[in-house]
Amino acid sequence: MLANSRAPSSAQTGLHEDLARLLERRASRPFLKPFAEYNRRAFFESMERRTRAAPGNPLILDSCCGTGALAVAIAETFPECYVIGIDQSAARIGKSPRHLPPNLDLVRADLVDYWRLMRDAGVRLARHYLLYPNPWPKIGQLSRRWHAHPAFPPMLELGGRLECRSNWRIYIEEFCFSVRYLTGLDARCEAWRPIAAQTTFEKKYLESGHELFRTVVHLVGTDPENSG
Ligand SMILES: C[S@@+](CC[C@H](N)C(=O)[O-])C[C@H]1O[C@@H](n2cnc3c(N)ncnc32)[C@H](O)[C@@H]1O
Repeated sequence: MLANSRAPSSAQTGLHEDLARLLERRASRPFLKPFAEYNRRAFFESMERRTRAAPGNPLILDSCCGTGALAVAIAETFPECYVIGIDQSAARIGKSPRHLPPNLDLVRADLVDYWRLMRDAGVRLARHYLLYPNPWPKIGQLSRRWHAHPAFPPMLELGGRLECRSNWRIYIEEFCFSVRYLTGLDARCEAWRPIAAQTTFEKKYLESGHELFRTVVHLVGTDPENSG
């Protein structure tokens, strides 16, 4: 990949003025969109694989896992945990390493459904990574950002140590605002300066000289043994 990517640019200079209003709506109305059959199948099949491989082991989710580079590293770092990486792009998942650690499953699914299916099944996480989600930086794209999406409240119910990274500071500031608004928990945006890139996009952004930002939140239900 060429190291000449442009950092997100937006007419938005601070938190979106409609974010609080949108969150109020998200919090007061359950998200009832019917599940797509392929997501339902992907979810139940992945849960069966988990039960066969590591029933009861703490679960780590890499949402928007892309090519799975981070998911592989996490699975190797936490061999006592079971890791699931989810991405909607078959092309991206198809670029993952051929040999995966035995405690890792990469699944093609839409998180809009997969998170809710997990929540409804009572599945809870030790850790949850959401690295470099599409920023949707245009002012009119607010509701496409995860922290303003109707799938966000159910996602927060999955619990665990939740980490989100972005190369757009406003994305992380808004993400923190949404977490605070919906959970009452503290969430702060901080600069992220890794020594080495952990994902395909992090590598591209670092090589392009972008500033990076992240937040780490310990949601209710966090397993302290696996979330330090
Ligand atoms: C900018 S890439 C980041 C990929 C990876 N985390 C990384 O840092 O290299 C964003 C990823 O989110 C995935 N994605 C976007 N919306 C999604 C959804 N609704 N469900 C699952 N994956 C989604 C895209 O397919 C894409 O691979």
